[in-house]
Amino acid sequence: MNAARHKPVMLREAIAALAPADGGRYLDGTFGAGGHTRALLEAADCRALGLDRDKSAITGGAELVQWAKGRLVLAENRFSSLDEAANDLGFAPLDGVLLDLGVSSMQLDEAERGFSFRHDGPLDMRMGASTLSAADIVNEWSEAELSRAISTLGEEKKARFVARAIVNARKEKPFSRTSELAETVRGAIHGKKTDIDPATRTFQALRMLVNEELQEVAEGLLAAERALKPGGRLAVISFHSLEDRLVKMFFASRGPAPAPSRHLPVTQSLPATFQTLAKKPLTASDEEVRDNPRARSAKLRVGERTHEKARSDDPFAGLLSRYSSLERSGKR
Ligand SMILES: C[S@@+](CC[C@H](N)C(=O)[O-])C[C@H]1O[C@@H](n2cnc3c(N)ncnc32)[C@H](O)[C@@H]1O
Repeated sequence: MNAARHKPVMLREAIAALAPADGGRYLDGTFGAGGHTRALLEAADCRALGLDRDKSAITGGAELVQWAKGRLVLAENRFSSLDEAANDLGFAPLDGVLLDLGVSSMQLDEAERGFSFRHDGPLDMRMGASTLSAADIVNEWSEAELSRAISTLGEEKKARFVARAIVNARKEKPFSRTSELAETVRGAIHGKKTDIDPATRTFQALRMLVNEELQEVAEGLLAAERALKPGGRLAVISFHSLEDRLVKMFFASRGPAPAPSRHLPVTQSLPATFQTLAKKPLTASDEEVRDNPRARSAKLRVGERTHEKARSDDPFAGLLSRYSSLERSGKR
């Protein structure tokens, strides 16, 4: 894997947010091509643990490990268990955690991985060891389940038509290639021609389902709360509104309680485990967006860990039960 192929998004802003210090221990939960990790190691005489659920990202990082001369450890793992990984590999407690969500350019560009509607390949989309492939979902899920998932995770307004077209097409022949699915979706969506391929949103929804991405984000944030030391920073770059909503909700629920209202009964508030550095997320500069269109939808949110113990209440219960029933339903 060639490190030059994935341009790290909001690099300057993410490193500034983590404020790496000499002697610090940092965890990059989405190592990818290692762009953010390298910048962290360049910014201070610190150590880093890079995780990625994709084995090829970890093997591709061998050169960076050599370059870092003992300051970088890489492990194939999901960031939902980042606290266990940090403990097991001698990095806990952490001074900083970075999550740069989504897929890498290498994953998208390699046709055999099946993420792309541009290059024909097997309809797979697994970043790492997942049970279901995208083909399993489109060939087995009911029309209603597909429609709901494509509408919610893909934010596709014409999800009903797409789901119906998928179910009709698979009666003739089950889907096995990305090009077959892309053609079916394009055929189901008529409308004004835009720069965005009509298959984009359906492919995104399937990728999020296959890899249980919302569940991973929720669990990853809770794991970071357990692993960070007081004063440690958590920086999350998201590219999808549902992911950003989870991050926003997390920091809101873990932050200081709002001032009590005179009109409401006084309730006991739980201790704040994070302080956010800004209410609004940071976004990429115009210059970066011109240079890297992927940065257009990026949102960076940052929180600093307080001295309070990690909490056990789950701020995602209501929201995730809605989405995880999508991610976990069907024929799984
Ligand atoms: C956007 S890329 C990260 C790029 C990286 N920051 C860089 O500078 O090269 C996202 C990476 O996170 C990995 N990933 C996505 N979800 C993950 C998860 N739940 N656990 C671990 N890695 C994950 C993907 O395999 C991919 O390599």
